[in-house]
Amino acid sequence: MLVLGLETSCDETGVALYDSERGLLADALFSQIDLHRAYGGVVPELASRDHVKRMLPLIRQVLAESGCAPGEIDAIAYTAGPGLVGALLVGASCAQALAFAWGVPALGVHHMEGHLLAPMLEEQPPEFPFVALLVSGGHTQLVRVDGIGRYQLLGESLDDAAGEAFDKTAKLIGLGYPGGPEIARLAESGTPGRFVFPRPMTDRPGLDFSFSGLKTFALNTWQQCRSTGDDGEQTRCDIALAFQQAVVETLTIKCRRALKQTGLKRLVIAGGVSANQALRQSLEKMLAELNGKVFYARPAFCTDNGAMIAYAGCQRLQAGQHEGPSIKVQARWPMEQLPAL
Ligand code: KG4
Ligand code: ZN
Repeated sequence: MLVLGLETSCDETGVALYDSERGLLADALFSQIDLHRAYGGVVPELASRDHVKRMLPLIRQVLAESGCAPGEIDAIAYTAGPGLVGALLVGASCAQALAFAWGVPALGVHHMEGHLLAPMLEEQPPEFPFVALLVSGGHTQLVRVDGIGRYQLLGESLDDAAGEAFDKTAKLIGLGYPGGPEIARLAESGTPGRFVFPRPMTDRPGLDFSFSGLKTFALNTWQQCRSTGDDGEQTRCDIALAFQQAVVETLTIKCRRALKQTGLKRLVIAGGVSANQALRQSLEKMLAELNGKVFYARPAFCTDNGAMIAYAGCQRLQAGQHEGPSIKVQARWPMEQLPAL
Protein backbone atom coordinates (compact mmCIF):
# COMPACT_ATOMS: atom_id res chain seq x y z
CA MET A 1 0.00 0.00 0.00
CA LEU A 2 1.41 3.39 -1.06
CA VAL A 3 0.49 6.19 1.36
CA LEU A 4 0.99 9.93 1.02
CA GLY A 5 1.55 11.52 4.45
CA LEU A 6 0.94 15.20 5.24
CA GLU A 7 2.07 16.94 8.45
CA THR A 8 0.99 20.52 9.25
CA SER A 9 0.36 20.57 13.02
CA CYS A 10 2.72 23.42 13.87
CA ASP A 11 5.58 25.18 12.08
CA GLU A 12 6.78 22.49 9.68
CA THR A 13 5.15 21.38 6.44
CA GLY A 14 6.10 17.73 6.00
CA VAL A 15 5.20 15.47 3.09
CA ALA A 16 6.29 11.86 2.50
CA LEU A 17 5.49 8.75 0.51
CA TYR A 18 5.64 5.45 2.41
CA ASP A 19 5.07 2.07 0.83
CA SER A 20 4.23 -0.94 2.99
CA GLU A 21 6.44 -3.17 0.81
CA ARG A 22 9.26 -0.84 -0.25
CA GLY A 23 9.50 1.42 2.82
CA LEU A 24 10.01 5.16 2.73
CA LEU A 25 10.22 6.37 -0.88
CA ALA A 26 10.51 10.14 -0.46
CA ASP A 27 10.31 12.73 2.26
CA ALA A 28 10.30 16.53 2.01
CA LEU A 29 10.08 19.23 4.65
CA PHE A 30 9.76 22.97 4.78
CA SER A 31 10.57 24.48 8.15
CA GLN A 32 9.03 27.86 9.00
CA ILE A 33 11.67 28.67 11.64
CA ASP A 34 12.93 31.74 9.78
CA LEU A 35 9.36 33.03 9.42
CA HIS A 36 8.66 32.89 13.17
CA ARG A 37 12.11 33.75 14.49
CA ALA A 38 11.46 37.50 14.55
CA TYR A 39 8.53 36.88 16.94
CA GLY A 40 10.43 34.51 19.25
CA GLY A 41 7.84 31.77 18.78
CA VAL A 42 5.21 30.36 16.42
CA VAL A 43 2.55 32.82 15.18
CA PRO A 44 -0.41 30.51 14.37
CA GLU A 45 -1.94 32.57 11.55
CA LEU A 46 1.40 32.94 9.77
CA ALA A 47 1.95 29.20 10.17
CA SER A 48 -1.40 28.35 8.53
CA ARG A 49 -0.82 30.68 5.58
CA ASP A 50 2.63 29.29 4.97
CA HIS A 51 1.37 25.67 5.01
CA VAL A 52 -1.04 26.68 2.21
CA LYS A 53 1.88 27.98 0.15
CA ARG A 54 4.20 25.00 0.70
CA MET A 55 1.89 22.00 0.54
CA LEU A 56 1.37 21.43 -3.20
CA PRO A 57 4.99 22.14 -4.22
CA LEU A 58 6.18 19.65 -1.57
CA ILE A 59 3.71 17.01 -2.81
CA ARG A 60 4.98 17.53 -6.37
CA GLN A 61 8.52 17.22 -5.04
CA VAL A 62 7.99 13.82 -3.34
CA LEU A 63 6.16 12.52 -6.41
CA ALA A 64 9.08 13.57 -8.61
CA GLU A 65 11.72 12.20 -6.23
CA SER A 66 10.01 8.84 -5.85
CA GLY A 67 9.09 8.54 -9.52
CA CYS A 68 5.51 7.74 -8.47
CA ALA A 69 2.44 8.98 -10.34
CA PRO A 70 -0.59 10.27 -8.39
CA GLY A 71 -2.57 7.32 -9.74
CA GLU A 72 -0.34 4.89 -7.80
CA ILE A 73 -1.22 6.40 -4.42
CA ASP A 74 -3.57 4.13 -2.46
CA ALA A 75 -4.44 6.42 0.45
CA ILE A 76 -3.67 9.72 2.16
CA ALA A 77 -2.76 10.16 5.84
CA TYR A 78 -2.68 13.59 7.44
CA THR A 79 -2.15 14.95 10.95
CA ALA A 80 -5.61 15.59 12.46
CA GLY A 81 -4.35 16.70 15.90
CA PRO A 82 -3.19 17.65 18.43
CA GLY A 83 -1.80 20.95 17.21
CA LEU A 84 -2.73 24.43 16.01
CA VAL A 85 -6.24 24.24 14.58
CA GLY A 86 -5.63 26.58 11.62
CA ALA A 87 -2.45 24.75 10.68
CA LEU A 88 -4.10 21.33 11.03
CA LEU A 89 -7.00 22.45 8.81
CA VAL A 90 -4.62 23.11 5.92
CA GLY A 91 -3.34 19.52 5.93
CA ALA A 92 -6.81 18.08 6.51
CA SER A 93 -8.42 20.09 3.67
CA CYS A 94 -5.64 19.28 1.28
CA ALA A 95 -5.75 15.57 2.15
CA GLN A 96 -9.52 15.36 1.79
CA ALA A 97 -9.54 17.30 -1.49
CA LEU A 98 -6.86 15.08 -3.02
CA ALA A 99 -8.52 11.93 -1.68
CA PHE A 100 -11.79 13.00 -3.32
CA ALA A 101 -10.08 13.91 -6.59
CA TRP A 102 -8.04 10.69 -6.73
CA GLY A 103 -10.83 8.46 -5.41
CA VAL A 104 -8.78 7.06 -2.51
CA PRO A 105 -9.43 6.91 1.25
CA ALA A 106 -8.04 9.44 3.74
CA LEU A 107 -7.25 9.03 7.42
CA GLY A 108 -6.51 11.56 10.16
CA VAL A 109 -3.44 10.54 12.18
CA HIS A 110 -2.59 11.45 15.79
CA HIS A 111 0.56 13.58 15.76
CA MET A 112 2.02 11.97 18.90
CA GLU A 113 1.35 8.46 17.55
CA GLY A 114 3.33 9.58 14.52
CA HIS A 115 6.25 10.61 16.76
CA LEU A 116 5.93 7.43 18.81
CA LEU A 117 6.18 5.20 15.72
CA ALA A 118 8.94 7.20 13.96
CA PRO A 119 11.70 4.87 15.29
CA MET A 120 9.96 2.07 13.33
CA LEU A 121 11.39 3.68 10.18
CA GLU A 122 14.95 2.91 11.34
CA GLU A 123 16.99 -0.19 10.58
CA GLN A 124 16.49 -1.85 13.96
CA PRO A 125 12.92 -1.02 14.97
CA PRO A 126 11.79 -1.76 18.54
CA GLU A 127 9.51 -4.72 19.21
CA PHE A 128 6.38 -4.33 21.32
CA PRO A 129 5.94 -3.98 24.26
CA PHE A 130 8.10 -1.01 25.27
CA VAL A 131 8.04 2.13 27.36
CA ALA A 132 7.95 5.35 25.31
CA LEU A 133 9.15 8.73 26.45
CA LEU A 134 7.44 11.33 24.27
CA VAL A 135 9.21 14.66 24.54
CA SER A 136 8.11 17.37 22.12
CA GLY A 137 7.29 21.05 22.23
CA GLY A 138 3.74 20.33 23.40
CA HIS A 139 3.96 17.00 25.25
CA THR A 140 6.02 15.16 27.84
CA GLN A 141 4.58 11.72 28.46
CA LEU A 142 5.65 8.27 29.59
CA VAL A 143 3.54 5.62 27.89
CA ARG A 144 3.43 1.85 28.06
CA VAL A 145 3.04 0.66 24.47
CA ASP A 146 1.76 -2.88 23.86
CA GLY A 147 1.00 -2.38 20.17
CA ILE A 148 -0.36 0.24 17.81
CA GLY A 149 -3.24 1.97 19.60
CA ARG A 150 -2.55 0.04 22.81
CA TYR A 151 -1.30 2.89 24.95
CA GLN A 152 -1.35 3.26 28.71
CA LEU A 153 -0.35 6.68 30.01
CA LEU A 154 2.07 6.22 32.93
CA GLY A 155 2.90 9.85 33.61
CA GLU A 156 2.99 13.29 32.03
CA SER A 157 3.99 16.88 32.61
CA LEU A 158 1.71 18.81 34.92
CA ASP A 159 2.82 22.12 33.36
CA ASP A 160 5.40 22.91 30.64
CA ALA A 161 6.44 20.19 28.20
CA ALA A 162 10.18 19.46 28.04
CA GLY A 163 10.59 21.18 24.66
CA GLU A 164 8.54 24.12 25.86
CA ALA A 165 10.85 24.43 28.89
CA PHE A 166 13.88 24.48 26.55
CA ASP A 167 12.22 27.12 24.35
CA LYS A 168 11.09 29.38 27.22
CA THR A 169 14.39 29.13 29.10
CA ALA A 170 16.32 29.97 25.95
CA LYS A 171 14.17 33.06 25.44
CA LEU A 172 14.68 34.19 29.05
CA ILE A 173 18.47 34.10 28.73
CA GLY A 174 18.40 35.86 25.37
CA LEU A 175 18.81 32.92 22.97
CA GLY A 176 17.04 32.40 19.66
CA TYR A 177 14.06 30.25 18.69
CA PRO A 178 13.67 27.28 18.80
CA GLY A 179 15.47 27.08 22.11
CA GLY A 180 16.20 23.35 22.29
CA PRO A 181 18.97 23.22 19.69
CA GLU A 182 20.33 26.60 20.93
CA ILE A 183 20.61 25.44 24.54
CA ALA A 184 22.16 22.15 23.42
CA ARG A 185 24.76 24.06 21.37
CA LEU A 186 25.72 26.45 24.19
CA ALA A 187 25.76 23.65 26.78
CA GLU A 188 28.70 22.10 24.92
CA SER A 189 30.87 25.02 26.13
CA GLY A 190 29.35 25.15 29.63
CA THR A 191 31.40 24.78 32.81
CA PRO A 192 30.22 21.64 34.65
CA GLY A 193 29.22 22.30 38.24
CA ARG A 194 29.16 26.10 38.12
CA PHE A 195 25.37 26.11 38.57
CA VAL A 196 23.23 23.26 39.86
CA PHE A 197 19.51 23.28 39.05
CA PRO A 198 16.86 21.21 40.88
CA ARG A 199 15.56 17.86 39.55
CA PRO A 200 11.82 18.56 39.88
CA MET A 201 9.52 15.89 41.34
CA THR A 202 12.23 13.23 41.55
CA ASP A 203 12.09 13.06 45.35
CA ARG A 204 8.51 11.83 45.40
CA PRO A 205 7.00 8.70 43.88
CA GLY A 206 5.17 8.67 40.57
CA LEU A 207 5.92 9.32 36.94
CA ASP A 208 4.63 12.85 36.43
CA PHE A 209 6.86 15.78 35.53
CA SER A 210 6.95 19.50 36.23
CA PHE A 211 9.35 21.69 34.27
CA SER A 212 8.00 25.19 34.74
CA GLY A 213 10.07 25.79 37.91
CA LEU A 214 13.28 25.19 35.99
CA LYS A 215 12.75 28.17 33.70
CA THR A 216 12.16 30.40 36.76
CA PHE A 217 15.33 28.99 38.31
CA ALA A 218 17.20 29.80 35.10
CA LEU A 219 15.77 33.32 35.02
CA ASN A 220 16.73 34.00 38.64
CA THR A 221 20.24 32.68 38.05
CA TRP A 222 20.61 34.82 34.92
CA GLN A 223 19.30 37.97 36.67
CA GLN A 224 21.63 37.46 39.63
CA CYS A 225 24.60 37.13 37.30
CA ARG A 226 23.54 40.19 35.30
CA SER A 227 23.21 42.30 38.44
CA THR A 228 26.94 41.76 39.04
CA GLY A 229 27.83 42.48 35.41
CA ASP A 230 28.42 38.78 34.73
CA ASP A 231 26.27 38.59 31.58
CA GLY A 232 28.71 37.30 28.98
CA GLU A 233 28.51 34.33 26.63
CA GLN A 234 30.22 31.99 29.09
CA THR A 235 27.54 32.56 31.72
CA ARG A 236 24.84 31.76 29.17
CA CYS A 237 26.71 28.55 28.31
CA ASP A 238 26.98 27.63 32.00
CA ILE A 239 23.25 28.20 32.58
CA ALA A 240 22.40 26.25 29.40
CA LEU A 241 24.47 23.30 30.63
CA ALA A 242 22.98 23.34 34.14
CA PHE A 243 19.44 23.54 32.71
CA GLN A 244 20.02 20.75 30.18
CA GLN A 245 21.60 18.50 32.82
CA ALA A 246 18.59 19.04 35.10
CA VAL A 247 16.10 18.12 32.35
CA VAL A 248 18.15 15.14 31.17
CA GLU A 249 18.68 13.74 34.66
CA THR A 250 15.02 14.23 35.59
CA LEU A 251 13.87 12.44 32.43
CA THR A 252 16.40 9.65 33.01
CA ILE A 253 15.26 9.09 36.62
CA LYS A 254 11.61 8.88 35.53
CA CYS A 255 12.38 6.55 32.61
CA ARG A 256 14.28 4.22 34.94
CA ARG A 257 11.29 4.24 37.28
CA ALA A 258 8.86 3.51 34.43
CA LEU A 259 10.98 0.59 33.23
CA LYS A 260 11.14 -0.80 36.76
CA GLN A 261 7.39 -0.38 37.26
CA THR A 262 6.50 -2.13 33.99
CA GLY A 263 9.31 -4.70 34.09
CA LEU A 264 10.21 -3.76 30.48
CA LYS A 265 13.71 -3.31 29.09
CA ARG A 266 13.02 -1.48 25.86
CA LEU A 267 12.73 2.29 25.86
CA VAL A 268 11.67 4.38 22.85
CA ILE A 269 12.28 8.12 22.89
CA ALA A 270 10.48 10.30 20.37
CA GLY A 271 9.59 13.93 19.64
CA GLY A 272 11.82 16.95 19.09
CA VAL A 273 13.72 16.71 22.39
CA SER A 274 14.73 13.12 21.59
CA ALA A 275 17.19 14.67 19.12
CA ASN A 276 19.15 15.96 22.15
CA GLN A 277 22.52 14.19 22.31
CA ALA A 278 22.96 14.58 26.07
CA LEU A 279 19.56 12.94 26.64
CA ARG A 280 20.40 10.09 24.28
CA GLN A 281 23.75 9.47 26.00
CA SER A 282 22.23 9.53 29.48
CA LEU A 283 19.48 7.07 28.51
CA GLU A 284 21.93 4.80 26.63
CA LYS A 285 24.02 4.60 29.79
CA MET A 286 21.03 3.83 32.00
CA LEU A 287 19.69 1.16 29.62
CA ALA A 288 23.14 -0.42 29.36
CA GLU A 289 23.16 -0.78 33.15
CA LEU A 290 19.76 -2.48 32.96
CA ASN A 291 20.82 -4.74 30.06
CA GLY A 292 18.14 -3.07 27.98
CA LYS A 293 18.06 -0.99 24.82
CA VAL A 294 17.02 2.50 23.86
CA PHE A 295 15.51 3.24 20.42
CA TYR A 296 15.15 6.55 18.64
CA ALA A 297 14.67 7.96 15.16
CA ARG A 298 17.31 9.78 13.09
CA PRO A 299 17.39 13.47 14.14
CA ALA A 300 15.30 14.63 11.16
CA PHE A 301 12.50 12.24 12.20
CA CYS A 302 12.61 13.28 15.89
CA THR A 303 11.23 16.71 15.04
CA ASP A 304 8.06 17.09 12.97
CA ASN A 305 8.06 15.38 9.57
CA GLY A 306 5.76 13.79 7.01
CA ALA A 307 7.40 10.35 7.10
CA MET A 308 6.09 9.50 10.57
CA ILE A 309 2.54 10.45 9.52
CA ALA A 310 2.75 8.39 6.32
CA TYR A 311 4.06 5.42 8.33
CA ALA A 312 1.52 5.62 11.17
CA GLY A 313 -1.30 6.21 8.67
CA CYS A 314 -0.19 3.24 6.58
CA GLN A 315 -0.40 0.88 9.59
CA ARG A 316 -3.97 1.96 10.32
CA LEU A 317 -5.12 2.16 6.68
CA GLN A 318 -3.79 -1.35 6.06
CA ALA A 319 -5.92 -2.52 8.96
CA GLY A 320 -8.95 -1.11 7.15
CA GLN A 321 -9.35 2.18 8.99
CA HIS A 322 -10.34 5.26 7.00
CA GLU A 323 -12.87 8.05 7.25
CA GLY A 324 -15.51 9.86 5.25
CA PRO A 325 -15.03 13.12 3.38
CA SER A 326 -15.47 15.41 6.40
CA ILE A 327 -12.78 17.84 7.49
CA LYS A 328 -12.30 17.46 11.23
CA VAL A 329 -9.27 18.32 13.34
CA GLN A 330 -8.65 18.40 17.10
CA ALA A 331 -6.40 20.82 18.97
CA ARG A 332 -6.48 18.44 21.95
CA TRP A 333 -6.73 14.70 21.55
CA PRO A 334 -5.67 12.19 24.24
CA MET A 335 -3.70 9.38 22.59
CA GLU A 336 -5.41 6.72 24.75
CA GLN A 337 -8.62 7.43 22.79
CA LEU A 338 -7.14 5.86 19.67
CA PRO A 339 -8.54 2.48 18.68
CA ALA A 340 -6.22 -0.52 19.01
CA LEU A 341 -5.20 -2.31 15.84
O1 KG4 B 1 8.29 17.29 18.00
P1 KG4 B 1 8.57 18.70 17.66
O2 KG4 B 1 9.29 19.01 16.37
O3 KG4 B 1 7.25 19.54 17.63
C1 KG4 B 1 6.18 19.29 18.48
O4 KG4 B 1 5.42 18.33 18.25
O5 KG4 B 1 6.10 20.06 19.47
O6 KG4 B 1 9.37 19.30 18.89
C2 KG4 B 1 9.85 20.61 18.90
C3 KG4 B 1 10.55 20.82 20.21
C4 KG4 B 1 10.94 22.28 20.42
O7 KG4 B 1 10.54 22.65 21.72
C5 KG4 B 1 12.46 22.26 20.29
O8 KG4 B 1 13.09 23.26 21.07
C6 KG4 B 1 12.79 20.87 20.78
O9 KG4 B 1 11.76 20.07 20.26
N1 KG4 B 1 14.10 20.41 20.30
C7 KG4 B 1 15.14 20.12 21.10
C8 KG4 B 1 16.22 19.74 20.27
N2 KG4 B 1 15.77 19.80 18.97
C9 KG4 B 1 14.47 20.19 19.02
N3 KG4 B 1 15.26 20.17 22.44
C10 KG4 B 1 16.46 19.85 22.97
N4 KG4 B 1 17.53 19.50 22.23
C11 KG4 B 1 17.46 19.43 20.90
N5 KG4 B 1 18.52 19.06 20.17
ZN1 ZN C 1 5.78 17.14 16.93
